[in-house]
Amino acid sequence: MSLDHTRNLSLEDMDRESIFHPATSIADHLEKGPNIMTSAKGVRISNSKGQDFIDCGSGLWCVNVGYGREEIAEAAAKAIRDLSFNHMFGGNSNEAMIRLADRVLQLFHREAGATHLSKVFFGTSGSDANDTIFKLILYYNNLRGRPLKKKIISRQGAYHGLTYAATSLTGIAGYHKAFDAPLDSVFHTSCPHYYRFHETGESEQEFCDRLILELEQLIEREGAETVAAFYAEPVMGTGGVFLPPADYFARVQEVLEANDILFVADEVITGFGRLGSWFATGQMNLKPDFVTLAKGLTSAYFPVSGVVVSDRVWQVLKEESPNYGPVMHGFTYSGHPVGGAIGMANLDIMEREALPQNSATTGLYFRDTLKARIGDNPFIGDVRGQGLMMAIEFVADKDKRRWFDMADGAHRLFGAAAIEEGVLARPLPMIEVVGLSPPLCITKAEVDEAVDRLARALEKITPDLERLAAKN
Ligand SMILES: Cc1ncc(COP(=O)(O)O)c(C=O)c1O
Repeated sequence: MSLDHTRNLSLEDMDRESIFHPATSIADHLEKGPNIMTSAKGVRISNSKGQDFIDCGSGLWCVNVGYGREEIAEAAAKAIRDLSFNHMFGGNSNEAMIRLADRVLQLFHREAGATHLSKVFFGTSGSDANDTIFKLILYYNNLRGRPLKKKIISRQGAYHGLTYAATSLTGIAGYHKAFDAPLDSVFHTSCPHYYRFHETGESEQEFCDRLILELEQLIEREGAETVAAFYAEPVMGTGGVFLPPADYFARVQEVLEANDILFVADEVITGFGRLGSWFATGQMNLKPDFVTLAKGLTSAYFPVSGVVVSDRVWQVLKEESPNYGPVMHGFTYSGHPVGGAIGMANLDIMEREALPQNSATTGLYFRDTLKARIGDNPFIGDVRGQGLMMAIEFVADKDKRRWFDMADGAHRLFGAAAIEEGVLARPLPMIEVVGLSPPLCITKAEVDEAVDRLARALEKITPDLERLAAKN
């Protein structure tokens, strides 16, 4: 057999033969083949068939400054010429990453009032950052002489990534199936999505009271001396864009404080402008012990993640770790200098173009325009959002709050129709929600265009939704 078996294959077939795709049905992929993207600029992306789309997903919630920024390309080229690689083990360092860490901390201090945040540890993905935090939580309590305090509370519907510890923190069953997850030390409490999960007659306040009580009871049942940390996305993304009740986090934080439990804010999506301010930490008045960052830190022009460590955790590491020797955790690409330069160029654009502010104002415009256009459709239960993190939730019967059968994929029909109309919008895996998170540079004219297309997509599938709704 010839070794060069790819010679006569189309790119599509070469993909089928050679790539094991993430989060993809193998059977579907072998049947349908790949969607090969070729170029992108601003909010628009094109594929090899010459189709153009408005990317209302920003890739995977990550291309915050939009595609094809010349100055980031220049910064990357210069960084590769100057210092194409350098590691950070054993105290090695490089200027770009030193400046990026300092800038991230300054942004947290200045824009979020989070002056207690003290150090940044770099990685390359949101998942590895969460695995780093998971390990540091264990490390912290070992150093404090509390070897039993190791359990972690996460939430149903959470998405924290797909490395092993992160998979366990993730609270969506589909990601656990056949992977022997979650770990026994991770517990998932209810998520604060009132629209879908409140009981009949329950007010939002009562719903919030119930969730806080559930958290307190879980801690009491397990014993506070065994619970180390609580993990949360400020606005849950992949689960379905869940905006918590107004005082939810204030009350959660009170419970954590009373029980000496660390609070981790996973700002992988919400960080760097997505919600209409620099960080949810400031916007929602959070006081996290760790913050997870990725995506918007470089707008995905280079894989860089950050674990931001609070002073309270840092003090323990600083005082106690000499008894244990060097902190033996890290990755080859922790603190990659090219990522540092790209991160700096990305933040220059965000600051200069005031993208977090654009996210606030254009986000509001997007949500309200969309709501006005599609909100009355009988199968649209909720159109919600904060900044440019938005969602459409589908319902089979609005008045009776009867949901579609998830297996029917009502929201996936909408995702497919939106693609036909030229918009990438993301059907999410847990309930019938389509996420919308365009680049933060989107203009009102582009929003109008996207909303027109989304409205057309909905119109197209409404007869199918009627059929599915009548089924159950
Ligand atoms: C909140 C959150 N945390 C962590 C992750 C994992 O990031 P990555 O895919 O870079 O590993 C994601 C990815 O979408 C996320 O949304």
